[in-house]
Amino acid sequence: MNSAKNTSVDLFSEIKILKQKKNAIILAHYYQEPDIQDAADFIGDSLGLSQQAAKTKADIIVFAGVHFMAETAKILSPQKKVLLPDLNAGCSLADACPADKFSEFKKKHPNHTVITYVNCSAEIKALSDIICTSTNAQKIVESLPKDEKIIFAPDKNLGRFIEKQTGRKMVLWDGSCMVHEIFSLKKIIQLKEKHPDTKFIAHPECEESVLQIADYIGSTTGLLNYTIKNSANKFIVATETGIIYQMEKASPDKIFIPAPPDNSCACNDCPHMKLNTLEKLYTCLRDEKPEIILDKYLIERAAKPIRRMLDISEKLGL
Ligand code: 13P
Ligand code: SF4
Repeated sequence: MNSAKNTSVDLFSEIKILKQKKNAIILAHYYQEPDIQDAADFIGDSLGLSQQAAKTKADIIVFAGVHFMAETAKILSPQKKVLLPDLNAGCSLADACPADKFSEFKKKHPNHTVITYVNCSAEIKALSDIICTSTNAQKIVESLPKDEKIIFAPDKNLGRFIEKQTGRKMVLWDGSCMVHEIFSLKKIIQLKEKHPDTKFIAHPECEESVLQIADYIGSTTGLLNYTIKNSANKFIVATETGIIYQMEKASPDKIFIPAPPDNSCACNDCPHMKLNTLEKLYTCLRDEKPEIILDKYLIERAAKPIRRMLDISEKLGL
């Protein structure tokens, strides 16, 4: 760890030099390790990161996140070089929705508008009408006429939560996130009892029973902002642990407790997100690989539902 720390001091300045030389930008998701967050030009949730990817003037985007996020950046900025430090950084939710199965599913539910959570492959995006993120999912659903039939994919937990918020029934794809399904309701209740002054906050990808006892539910940016604005001093956080780094930075006097998983492993670390390291970020910027390469026709089709989401979000000031 010490030798990695010593190396990382050099890596920070090397990354800075390379960024300037190559006119590159580093976009990082909150679930990245702290060193990567410190090296980034912008840290955000999926919506914020895609908005940045769409408007950046940089020639190279290094996406410190998972594959579907880097793909989304490439789709929005096809003329730019988009790099991902580790090409194997996938997403269990995206993997739970293969394109061939989803096409069949769509055929079984004709005349439905397909709203798809951004955590999916470019192929699934190309099969969708509107993309959404955890920040705008409710507003996107509400932007459609009340009698419109909707397929919501791939996250059933987010889908159920949006059904509850909007009072609308949707056809849900049966997918979920391996990280957000691991929390133990029993242990969270015990922790809440032990710390009655604590606020329990959760990402909407968590299971319904966990969401039911949450004081606040929101995207990673929403959760971070809540901890900044709320007067409580202690928070139990049910999402990937990476976000806690920014929470502690923003509110150094407050205490953040990762929600306990239902066993003793570090399961609320996303194994995909954590494949990226500062070293890989450096070599990827230096060698300009691995690069995200997508077929032109796929980009054209996948861009439409993402642009629709960005337009609706802009109109709503999100
Ligand atoms: P956010 O858009 O809320 O950051 O969520 C991304 C994600 O992958 C959650 O698991
Ligand atoms: Fe995918 Fe879950 Fe990791 Fe988010 S936390 S990237 S949904 S596997």
